[in-house]
Amino acid sequence: MDITIRKIKTEDHYSIECMTKKAFWNLNMPGCDEHYLVHRIWNEPNYVPSVSSLAEAGEVIVGVILYTKCKVETVNGDFPVLTFGPLCVDPEYQNKGIGGKLLVESMKLAKQYDYKGILICGVPTYYPKFGFKTADTFGITMPDGSNFDAFMGYELQENALSEHKGKFYEPESLDCDIHDEEYVRQLEEFDKNYPYMEKKVLPGQWR
Ligand SMILES: CC(C)(COP(=O)(O)OP(=O)(O)OC[C@H]1O[C@@H](n2cnc3c(N)ncnc32)[C@H](O)[C@@H]1OP(=O)(O)O)[C@@H](O)C(=O)NCCC(=O)NCCS
Repeated sequence: MDITIRKIKTEDHYSIECMTKKAFWNLNMPGCDEHYLVHRIWNEPNYVPSVSSLAEAGEVIVGVILYTKCKVETVNGDFPVLTFGPLCVDPEYQNKGIGGKLLVESMKLAKQYDYKGILICGVPTYYPKFGFKTADTFGITMPDGSNFDAFMGYELQENALSEHKGKFYEPESLDCDIHDEEYVRQLEEFDKNYPYMEKKVLPGQWR
């Protein structure tokens, strides 16, 4: 199967949102909100279209990785870094190397554009094989000072993160609280624009 990795055009947005819904539906909670997150990222001033990428099999969009600018607050001021998310692949195309290809190709782009490092909260068993290390390795914590296995970083330039210890902040506009009634109401309204999928309570859901 030939897979092409390329940058994202405005006309790809709706198909990406549909694919994202499929990839996350019932995975971490009954239903999902990742397609809503993707929709909000397009208008986020910190969105980085030059690095964000999609994967295509023929003319079908089968994967995506979206980057946004974030910062580490250090004693010497803010240090700009990237984060990504969602990274997802259509369930019918998973485990064929597409997620890995999206990650590796987009990280090459990030380096070309002179970004220094990447910090993420993601699946702790997936990213270490691509060189990600837990953020405590670099002396970087979440805003509340915490560290956990899912909070990981990657240095695009040597020692870029370890020389900028501090607290990691993501854009506030991307915050979401699935226990907030108003957020859930907005999500349900938004989801009406996408193909119907049945919500299920399944083992392993944690949100
Ligand atoms: C996680 C995801 C992006 C990986 O993409 P993919 O194209 O399926 O993965 P690849 O083919 O590149 O890599 C396959 C390898 O990753 C592992 N893997 C896939 N999904 C994984 C997961 N959720 N957790 C841990 N390992 C995972 C596979 O076991 C396989 O391991 P192996 O190489 O040792 O056999 C994709 O499975 C996905 O979209 N999942 C649902 C959404 C999600 O969880 N996104 C990540 C949020 S941080």
